[in-house]
Amino acid sequence: MVTQEIAPGYTFLTEEHEMIRQAARDFAQKEIAPIAAEHDESGEFPLETIKRMGQMGFMGVEMPEEYGGAGMDTLAYVLALEEICKADASHGTIMSVNNSLFCHGIEKYGTEAQKEKYLKAIASGEKIGAYSLTEPMSGSDAGTMRSRAVLDGGHYVINGLKSWVTSGPVADYILVFVMTEPEDGSKGITAFLTDADQPGFVRGKKEPKLGIRASATSEIVYEDYRCPVENRLGEEGEGFKIAMTVLDAGRIGIASQALGIAEAGYEASVQYVKEREAFGKQIGQFQGIAFKIADMKTRIEAARGLIYNAALAKIRSKETGERYTLEASMAKLFASEMAMWVTHQAVQIHGGMGYSKELPVERYFRDAKITEIYEGTSEIQRMVIARMETGLR
Ligand code: CAA
Repeated sequence: MVTQEIAPGYTFLTEEHEMIRQAARDFAQKEIAPIAAEHDESGEFPLETIKRMGQMGFMGVEMPEEYGGAGMDTLAYVLALEEICKADASHGTIMSVNNSLFCHGIEKYGTEAQKEKYLKAIASGEKIGAYSLTEPMSGSDAGTMRSRAVLDGGHYVINGLKSWVTSGPVADYILVFVMTEPEDGSKGITAFLTDADQPGFVRGKKEPKLGIRASATSEIVYEDYRCPVENRLGEEGEGFKIAMTVLDAGRIGIASQALGIAEAGYEASVQYVKEREAFGKQIGQFQGIAFKIADMKTRIEAARGLIYNAALAKIRSKETGERYTLEASMAKLFASEMAMWVTHQAVQIHGGMGYSKELPVERYFRDAKITEIYEGTSEIQRMVIARMETGLR
C-alpha cells in the first residue's frame, strides 16, 4: 500500500481505499463474474446483484452516510467501479449512473427535501436512478434539445422525447433536462427530478445494443407530465450548467469503467500467452506477442494515472470550487481509447478463442466500445480539452 502524501493532507492510498477495493473485488469476482455472460446473452437487467451492491454502499460511494451513501471519496469510487467493471461492465454502467449522474447532481444542487426523497433512495441502492439529456436530434450538441417544460401554477408541464437513457427501462427516478426558454438556447434549459410512477411518464423503445447488454437503455416519453415546482433542480435556465457539471463527474466514472474492462482483457491475455503453445513455445515467448503485452500494460497504467489524477482534482474541487473538466475529459478520452485498443489486442492474442463466446474476451471488446461514445464522444472530449487549453472555439 502506498502511503505517500501527494496533496496537502491527502494520503495516497489509505487503508480505507484498500478496503473498498478489496470488498468490490471480492464481490465482483464471486457474485458478478459468474453471471455476466448469461446476462450479456439475455440482456436481462441484473436487479438482484445491483440491490446487493446498494447494500454494500457501492451505489452512492461518495454520498454522505446521512443520505444513504458510503461517505467515501472519489478515489474510493473509482477503485470500486474499476473492480466491478473488471467483472462486468454492465453492472458498472448502472453503478456509475446512480453515483455520478444522479446522486452527484442532487448532492451539489438539491434542496434538503430533494436530498431526503431522491438522494437517500438512490444512494442506498433501494431505487434506481437515471440521467436524461440526449434526444433523437440532440446528442453531442446537447444545447439544442426540443423537449419543453411550461410553468402552469405549481407545476411544470413537460412534453418531449428523450433517448439513450441508461437504466431508462427500470429507473424509478430520472434527472431530466428540458427547455423552459427555447429562445435562450443552452441558457434556457432547466433540470427536473421526475418520478416513473407518475402519469405522463412513458417508457419508450428499448435499444438493442452491441455491448453492455445487461444495462438497459431506452427512450423516455413525457406526455403532459406534471412536475411540481419543488422538483426543479437548481434555478430555471441553470440546467445546462448542471448537466455539464454532472458529466464532469460522470466522465471520471466512465474512464474507470474503461480501465476495468481493459484490465480484464489484459489479465486474460497474460494467462493465455503462458498457457497457449505454438511452434513448440508458449506464445508469450514470441516477440510479436510479448510486445503487445508490454504495450497493453503500459497504456493501462498511463490511464490509471490520468484517472487517479482526475479523482484527486474532484476531491480538491470540493474545497476550492474549481472545475476539474480538463482532468475528467483527459482521463475519459485516454482510458476509453486505451480500453478499445487493449481489448482489440486481447481478442487478437486469443485468436479463434478470442472470437468465441466461450471466453469473455469478445464481450470485453464489445463492452469497451461504448466508453468512447457515451457521456461525450472522444471527439467531444478532444473539443473540451482543446478549448480549455487554447481558449479558442
Ligand atoms: N461545467 C460547468 N459549466 C460548463 C461546463 C462544465 N463542464 N461546460 C460548459 N459549461 C458552461 C459554459 O461555461 C457556458 O456558460 P457561460 O456562457 O455562462 O460561460 C455554458 O455552459 C455553455 O457552454 P458552451 O458554450 O461551451 O456549450 P456548447 O454548446 O459549445 O457545448 C459541449 C459544449 C462540450 C460540446 C457540450 O455540449 C457537451 O459536453 N456535449 C456532449 C454531451 C454529452 O456528453 N452527452 C452525453 C449524455 S449522457 C449519456 O451519454 C447517456 C447516459 O445515460 C449515460
